[in-house]
Amino acid sequence: MREAAGLLRQGELVAFPTETVYGLGADATNTEAVAGIFRAKGRPSDNPLIVHISDLSMLDGLVLQVDALSRRLAEVFWPGPLTLVLPVRPGAVSPLVTAGLDTVAVRMPDHPVALALIAAAGCPVAAPSANRSGRPSPTLAEHVREDLEGRIAGILDGGATGVGLESTVAEAGPDGRSVHVLRPGGVTPAELAAAAGCDVAVAGEARGGVDPAGAAVRPDGLPAPQAEAGARGHRPGEEPFRPKSPGMKYTHYAPKGRLTLVRGSSPEAVAARAVQELDRARSEGERTGVLVPEEHAHLYRGAADLVVVCGSLADPGSTAQELFAALRRFDEAGTTFMLAEAFPEEGIGLAVMNRLRKAAGHRVLEAE
Ligand code: TXA
Ligand code: MG
Repeated sequence: MREAAGLLRQGELVAFPTETVYGLGADATNTEAVAGIFRAKGRPSDNPLIVHISDLSMLDGLVLQVDALSRRLAEVFWPGPLTLVLPVRPGAVSPLVTAGLDTVAVRMPDHPVALALIAAAGCPVAAPSANRSGRPSPTLAEHVREDLEGRIAGILDGGATGVGLESTVAEAGPDGRSVHVLRPGGVTPAELAAAAGCDVAVAGEARGGVDPAGAAVRPDGLPAPQAEAGARGHRPGEEPFRPKSPGMKYTHYAPKGRLTLVRGSSPEAVAARAVQELDRARSEGERTGVLVPEEHAHLYRGAADLVVVCGSLADPGSTAQELFAALRRFDEAGTTFMLAEAFPEEGIGLAVMNRLRKAAGHRVLEAE
């Protein structure tokens, strides 16, 4: 830990575990160090980084102000998988961290190793997920090594991460009475709505671009009227408040082969269609794979070269935990044609499907 903190202070890159995925850390105030993150990952420079803190007292140095709603969310969910977008204090972090935006994304991770590292380094730590850009995020130190060995100073191995998917990125609306989810993640819209006591809008983009209008959840967990989702807090003649997360536009998490989602009216219909497609692909010489929940694995016995079981429908959190490692298994097996069953989008399932849609390049087959 001492060595890792010392490396960070010297401007080196160190990967570390958080409760969501492994992060690739650098001193957020050191532009040379932050530039190294973009180089090591092959990350586009217009995609800003999340700044990690170990103590609430670090927040005021980073931002101009914390509105009452954001303060409440920080109190309820920190440490934890929620990232808050706030107005950046000029000069507080390297301009590369914010990619030129006037906001900064901040979170306090709920992992003893991450918290101890940040505290020992004594600086805010900029950290994207510790994968090569475009690859599935790392949930094991071994995944980081696969992607970044030779490119970074070290990895703190804390075993498997907990949530398995990245944090929820959210921003309070300018009216102080709405929350906008820019990236679904470890904290669900319903949890945010309950804590905030106001509606939570999920950008259409965050839902995978399938529903450009977006959706909203009320504090009681029920869907809010669609029309309100993207247009909160704006007066006639003004542009509606549509916060953007630059990272949402990039292809992510994609295995090397071609992945497509299959959804339909029943598990049997989905499996029938999927097996038909897998047979056809195999007969054309493809190496095939399929990703399914435990409950449906029996429907695919012998139907693909690799059947990857990814969690259980009875426990959606287990699918989130296993998803990125499951996607990496396709690459390890060298599959070229893969299908994944669509998962229910309730709760953490929203974030699971956001990642799966991206991994599949938004290709979806409908089974009748
Ligand atoms: O769980 C996580 O959030 C992990 C761990 C390591 O903390 N980190 C992570 O970082 O997922 P990264 O860089 O892979 O994703 C950061 C996301 C991107 O979608 C980026 O566009 C968005 O946060 N973001 C960063 N700064 C922003 C800002 N000022 N406004 C809007 N979105 C921002
Ligand atoms: Mg990432």
